[in-house]
Amino acid sequence: MRLLILGGTWFVGRVLAEDAVGRGWAVTTFNRGRSGPDVAGVHPLRGDRTDVQDLERLAAAGPWDAVVDVGGAEPRSVGLAAQVLGAQAGRYVFVSTVSVYRDWPASPVDESSPLHPGNPDLVVEDPRWDAVRYGPHKAGCEAAVRRSVSPDRLLMVRPGVVLGPYEYVGRLPWWLRRMARGGRVLAPAPADRPIQPVDVRDLASFLLDLIGRSASGIFNVAAPTGHATYGRMLDACAAATRDVRGADEIEVVWAEPDWLVEQGVRQWTEIPLWRVQPGTWRLDATRAAAAGLRCRPIEKTVLATWAWLAAGGAPVRHERQDEHGFDPDRERRLVDLWECRSQAASGEKGLV
Ligand SMILES: NC(=O)c1ccc[n+]([C@@H]2O[C@H](COP(=O)([O-])OP(=O)(O)OC[C@H]3O[C@@H](n4cnc5c(N)ncnc54)[C@H](OP(=O)(O)O)[C@@H]3O)[C@@H](O)[C@H]2O)c1
Repeated sequence: MRLLILGGTWFVGRVLAEDAVGRGWAVTTFNRGRSGPDVAGVHPLRGDRTDVQDLERLAAAGPWDAVVDVGGAEPRSVGLAAQVLGAQAGRYVFVSTVSVYRDWPASPVDESSPLHPGNPDLVVEDPRWDAVRYGPHKAGCEAAVRRSVSPDRLLMVRPGVVLGPYEYVGRLPWWLRRMARGGRVLAPAPADRPIQPVDVRDLASFLLDLIGRSASGIFNVAAPTGHATYGRMLDACAAATRDVRGADEIEVVWAEPDWLVEQGVRQWTEIPLWRVQPGTWRLDATRAAAAGLRCRPIEKTVLATWAWLAAGGAPVRHERQDEHGFDPDRERRLVDLWECRSQAASGEKGLV
């Protein structure tokens, strides 16, 4: 199996490359060589994916059984890659996102849900991370790939939240470090809120299995609803970090979501992985499950991520890391406020 990965050194692409090399596949990665060591065993080629000459040089190194565009986020250059490399690819794969759905996270979505209108010719002038433009841009990327690759050769995955070793967004690493610090931890009730992040290793394995079977089509990728809960994730973070915390106890203070919203807590970032919109954790991934997606328990994802961090693992530096987590003083103030409010409420009840 000959596989070309556009990218391959940060997170999803990195794990994809590791898994494919482990399967004995001949793996070529294409990137600028700026942001991290190559995965051992790959054949690395250097170039800029926005440069048509670099892409043409890359195409000359083909053909491949599959080309996977992992991190593409600008419609014009994603389309250019598909146009130049498409003919060299038995199968063309684009890693998209749940954010392409117009109604996510307000509503549950499946693969037939409407997408954001996306412009396949868009050139992104400002490459900084922008949560509002991300979904429409990725929808434009999907449209751009579709222009050059016929549906029978095209495989698209739309993951929800991806966690695990090498995560550079900073969600689970923040929670792990927070639990390692101990003390009173502000968390969004209820503890049994279902969540459905997918482990990056399960995403990679699923994708390679699909490629190995010459599959095509579109697949949401997420753990089944009910596979994990917010409380289980935090318990696992507390358990994983027990050794570094020493005698410091953790007290998880579960505050009502409406109250957190009233306090102006930034959803999804200040408290990572928490959002009140009802569709957030209702991504329908039954098609992927039927096609073989298997999701390990959240505890294993948490443990592996902590093992990686504790061994000195450092993610690629990314601007999204800075937007995650609470300032400790603000967290302390909010915990005090919430506890005063709860005590006042129970006092009032006592008077009745
Ligand atoms: N994290 C989540 O929860 C989540 C959820 C849903 C979907 N997703 C999707 O998952 C994907 C994550 O991908 P990843 O970032 O982990 O992929 P990756 O393939 O591991 O890393 C990105 C690669 O792109 C290369 N690159 C960047 N700019 C380049 C350029 N101009 N020319 C050539 N190479 C370039 C980087 O290397 P150099 O910098 O050295 O060039 C790096 O190797 C994204 O598509 C994202 O939309 C993520």
